[in-house]
Amino acid sequence: MPLPAPRGRLSAALLAHLVEPGSAGTAQDLLDLARAAASTADVLRDEDVQLSLTVLYELSYRGLAGVDDALEWDLDLLRVRQTLEEPFERAVRELVDVPAAEPGDVAETLFRMAAEDDGPGLSRYLARRADLEQYREFLTHRSVYHLKEADPHTWAIPRLAGPVKAALVEVQSDEYGGGRADRMHAALFARTMRALGLDDTYGALVDRVPAITLASTNAMSMFGLHRRLRAAVVGHLAVFEMTSSIPNRFYGNGLRRLGFDADATWFFDEHVEADAVHEQIAGRDLAGGLARREPHLTGDVLFGAAACLALDGLVAAHVLERWEEGRSSLRDPA
Ligand SMILES: [Fe+2]
Ligand SMILES: [Fe+2]
Repeated sequence: MPLPAPRGRLSAALLAHLVEPGSAGTAQDLLDLARAAASTADVLRDEDVQLSLTVLYELSYRGLAGVDDALEWDLDLLRVRQTLEEPFERAVRELVDVPAAEPGDVAETLFRMAAEDDGPGLSRYLARRADLEQYREFLTHRSVYHLKEADPHTWAIPRLAGPVKAALVEVQSDEYGGGRADRMHAALFARTMRALGLDDTYGALVDRVPAITLASTNAMSMFGLHRRLRAAVVGHLAVFEMTSSIPNRFYGNGLRRLGFDADATWFFDEHVEADAVHEQIAGRDLAGGLARREPHLTGDVLFGAAACLALDGLVAAHVLERWEEGRSSLRDPA
């Protein structure tokens, strides 16, 4: 992805270091900046911390323009990442209430969590009231995840075994278009972005989204990149699928209301159908299967699910709050 603009002292030093290692001081200087940034009062909404995490995680996805691929495993950068991840994981755990459940009841518990989640109603707003500019904003927020759709959860595949692994691969195969590049969900999302006149270049709109939007994708990356958190990534995916089908119908309806055709709504229409199937596989075979196979992971399956609902809820609340005030939900263009 293109190099984003810095949002504070840490991200400024980090970006300079990535382009030219050593140019922003010593490794100790960078670590000191990370420790100072990590002591922020609200890590989920701290622009400097969340952008720094996004940049560090991107080293493990497609990388950053002009940055040496070898830096993915640079020990000094991993130390910076760890320094930020500790308060980040703590903040996400403090944010959520994880229900108690027996390993055999995980799927039903997840379906109940999804059903009881009364989000702030962003999908209803989009269906009924949003104008074109607000739809562009919505897609801009979502682009951070959907242009790499499914990738964070894919990290879990080699960490699972047997029917649980097979269930995850079955869902991911659909996400990646079942062998057809033009059907990859990320490609369908890019198509919707283009239809609305947005730049669909991977990572191009990161500069426009606030920390809380970055935090929701950063949580997926953190769960995905740590084998220790493999159950959280499974729970995250399961509840993500369970809360997808109906909102996607609303998103598509809103675009049709604004006069867009089936090409523009393809991404949303695809998810109405696909995720009604995915939620069953991801809830019962994947998440339920993992909890039966490794009962000690039950709590983390539910934690990942709760984190998904809570963080998506914070993003939606931010967007709606801004719109109700007649303001943009995005950051000002640089
Ligand atoms: Fe998808
Ligand atoms: Fe799906």
